[in-house]
Amino acid sequence: MARSSFFQASTLLSSFLALANAQSSYPSATPTTSAQPVFTIPASADEGADVLPNILDPQAVNAQDVCPGYKASQFKEDERGVTAILSLAGAPCNVYGNDIESLNLKVEYQSKDRLAVNIRPTYLDASNSSHWIVPEHLIPRPQQEDSNEDLDLQFTWGNEPSFWFTVTRKSSGDVIFTTKGTHLVYEDQFVEFVNSLPEDYNLYGLGERIHGLKLNNNFTATIYAADVGDPIDRNIYGSHPFYLETRYFEAGSGKYKKPLKESDLNQRNFNFGSKRSGKGSPYESASHGVYYRNTHGMDVKLSPTNLTWRTLGGEIDLFFFDGPTQHEVTKQYQKSAVGLPAMQSYWTLGFHQCRWGYRSWAETKEIVETMRAFDIPMETIWLDIDYMDKYRDFTLDPVHFSPSDAVDFFKWLHGNNQHFVPIVDAAIYIPNPQNPSDAYAPYTRGNESGVFMTNPDGSQYIGAVWPGYTVFPDWMSTNGVSWWVKEMVEWFKEVPYSGFWVDMTEVSSFCVGSCGTGNVTLNPAHPPFQLPGEVGNIIYDYPEAFNVTNATEAASASAAASSQNAAKSTATSSSTSTVYLRTTPTPGVRNVNHPPYVIDHVQGDLAVHAVSPNATHANGMQEYEVHNIWGHQIINATYQGLLSIFPGKRPFIIGRSTFAGSGKWAGHWGGDNASKWYYMYFSIPQALSFSLFGIPMFGVDTCGFNGNTDAELCSRWMQLSAFFPFYRNHNVLSAIPQEPFRWASVAEASRTATHIRYSLLPYMYTLFHQAHTTGSTVMRALAWEFPNDPQLAAVDTQFLLGPNILVTPVLEPLVDTVKGVFPGIIDGETWFDWYTGERVNAEAGVNTTISAPLGHIPVYIRGGAVLPLQEPGYTTTESRRNPWGLVVALSREGEASGELYVDDGESLEPGEVLDVSFKACDGVLKVDVKGEYKDTNALGNVTVHGVYGGVGDVRLNGKEVGKEKVVYEQAKGVLRISGLNGLTEGGAWKEGWSLSWT
Ligand code: NOJ
Repeated sequence: MARSSFFQASTLLSSFLALANAQSSYPSATPTTSAQPVFTIPASADEGADVLPNILDPQAVNAQDVCPGYKASQFKEDERGVTAILSLAGAPCNVYGNDIESLNLKVEYQSKDRLAVNIRPTYLDASNSSHWIVPEHLIPRPQQEDSNEDLDLQFTWGNEPSFWFTVTRKSSGDVIFTTKGTHLVYEDQFVEFVNSLPEDYNLYGLGERIHGLKLNNNFTATIYAADVGDPIDRNIYGSHPFYLETRYFEAGSGKYKKPLKESDLNQRNFNFGSKRSGKGSPYESASHGVYYRNTHGMDVKLSPTNLTWRTLGGEIDLFFFDGPTQHEVTKQYQKSAVGLPAMQSYWTLGFHQCRWGYRSWAETKEIVETMRAFDIPMETIWLDIDYMDKYRDFTLDPVHFSPSDAVDFFKWLHGNNQHFVPIVDAAIYIPNPQNPSDAYAPYTRGNESGVFMTNPDGSQYIGAVWPGYTVFPDWMSTNGVSWWVKEMVEWFKEVPYSGFWVDMTEVSSFCVGSCGTGNVTLNPAHPPFQLPGEVGNIIYDYPEAFNVTNATEAASASAAASSQNAAKSTATSSSTSTVYLRTTPTPGVRNVNHPPYVIDHVQGDLAVHAVSPNATHANGMQEYEVHNIWGHQIINATYQGLLSIFPGKRPFIIGRSTFAGSGKWAGHWGGDNASKWYYMYFSIPQALSFSLFGIPMFGVDTCGFNGNTDAELCSRWMQLSAFFPFYRNHNVLSAIPQEPFRWASVAEASRTATHIRYSLLPYMYTLFHQAHTTGSTVMRALAWEFPNDPQLAAVDTQFLLGPNILVTPVLEPLVDTVKGVFPGIIDGETWFDWYTGERVNAEAGVNTTISAPLGHIPVYIRGGAVLPLQEPGYTTTESRRNPWGLVVALSREGEASGELYVDDGESLEPGEVLDVSFKACDGVLKVDVKGEYKDTNALGNVTVHGVYGGVGDVRLNGKEVGKEKVVYEQAKGVLRISGLNGLTEGGAWKEGWSLSWT
């Protein structure tokens, strides 16, 4: 029955085609009905204690005022570092935990660019009570290297008024980190230290959060993995206790000067025109990085001249990266500390289409077909939890996603060189023991192997997620990873997926504590809230300017929303004044569920919407200590699963919760944003932050997840995301459909942008290879490429793809221009318009107004770049069979260079590769080829930008190519040489060649 429904499904293609010409909205779909739960978990199950974050608590004691700090003694130093003992300098303050009397200080000059400061309880080294120190096998600790002689970072310390330390650049005297004048507080549930910073500091990182790229200097960055839909400025899914700091100085002295403050720049009127003649920018910068290797929840309080670090335990394990450029900081951080990012398979760079609410194989197939009918490249179709049988991992809904239809679906999909990625959730359904037909084999097998987390008393910890009451894999258990790998391998036989999308991995649970204990007989259960689209939860929200562009629909949506809200508010009872739970330290006891110090966690109580802190792992660790790495560990397990399925091939994983180092196995998407213009903007700083965190494979839910989108927003967003490494459109259940073919304007805009993206795939892939081998970034902030321009320090409305592509997107509705800077002009940089090839005429340091009607995304090529391109095909497989092309964008000096990396696109350790380098000067482009990888695609064309003085004969290896192949537009300075296909026999990169035009 199901089989025939797949093939006989009437195609909606023609109606899509008709609808695409109208900017119409769509009726809300109802949520999937694959689960018909009878019992709804009460909403109260997800309510925790009322806690007040310490930073907001008027009664909170400032530890700096009451704690004595430490005194250092037994100081020893050699060429590898320093050790000392730190002893409590007075009566214990026991302010938010129990003070630890004696600490070991160990400073290591670890390498030529890294200094480590470790402070841990002395008793840890003496006994094995190491339950709260991050195990090295989980989060590797950067190690001492042989060569540290050239280390420019210096450690100094003092004892007045209590122990402090400072990290200084020897060469310039610049103090990059100092705790001088503050007290170290070291307790079992609270560790605090404070470091001073220059005024108006430029600090980046400390994620994951929705925030501008440069962090405000009056704000608390909380780090605690949370399942929450992208609130601004709060802690969300990932934990990255790492920051980059950049300091700008006046150029020239080479020696330390006070870093510039914003007011310095204002006083000078910051006019690049007044630069000293011929010397370029009057400023320079130095950057360094700091990584705090600690998995506990933490608050990092950013104040105008300092940072206060407060963790809920663990050790102080700090790593300082010398830089001094941003590029070097991220390379040092990734290469030596957390691991280099995974190399992505070529296909993963294609466009991904996803939504919550594709209801059958037939509908899924139709989406894929319609994308092709509209000629919008689509590489991968994704399915959300709709495909599952009652929302259980490793299953298929037998009716709508029947296994037999799956066979046909995959044969067809793979036959078209397209891919499939399913969502897989962290939680595992626990079947109803009273209902034999509810049996669920992945649970049974896991239970028999002892792979699930427990309560402190050893009973199974039972929370709740989509399917009802669930258990949670324990990655520390002996069989946890191998059980997961086996489930993946088994399921692959039925569902031949190409990668895994791991969701809800914070790890999320929809109730506080082991709420399922004693309730499993109620399974399957409905979550304690309405799903989008369910009665009373219809989506009426639209992007900001919808009331202007779609006034009638906006009015009726707003009326419907008001009546829905009114119904909701009558149901809500009024609240009384809150009595907050405050706990105090108990000697010898840790209160992990309600620690005395309350971090500014977005959910308040640590146990809300997550597995509770006292859930226990097989090695005795509590979730309290390792909560922030749960998502990192499922990524690791999934990586191993994919390796078993595709031996020797690069695993493709998109994970929600990440930790420092997750990039070596996975990419990440930005989570549950909304169809709002401001979320489109925030996607840029979020992506740039993930560049810093070593997770370059990043993208967001294009066109927006929560709420309904509209044509204008979706058009701009499809164009913007085309320049992000991970390019996926995803939508919430029951919101109006937002595939790019739904509106003619969005379809057209998407075709334009994907054409550029697919042309640039060789460039992007080369960037990934460089990131994978050196720790360089793929998406870049302007400030990183142009470190001498303090005005760029906070720019996050524009970005660079690698060093050479500048993207200046429109981020607001109802406009047809955008303002942007052309960085580096003061230092002689030039920019060329991607579309016309003309040189941009812009002034240094000035915001230029750029024409950007709907459907046009301003993109520029940096002078001095050679970009390798390939003619786009519908899929990346087809693209890889097409002729190559080059864009040579000459610098003012008439020079350009670039690289291309080619391999088979999928092997973890490719046997044969190609490294091609390009160099142009004096009217000659020289191509040098190294490596054995066979690529037989011809060279199609070469375009040279910035040729103003006329051209002579165009010759390939000295032989004239023929006038008919050459078009020269002197006024624009663009030389186009096409139809070269026959001239590079055996492929463009079979051997080196040269092309001259003078
Ligand atoms: C939460 C994820 O963030 C979202 O992308 C997904 O659609 C829903 N879970 C449903 O699975």
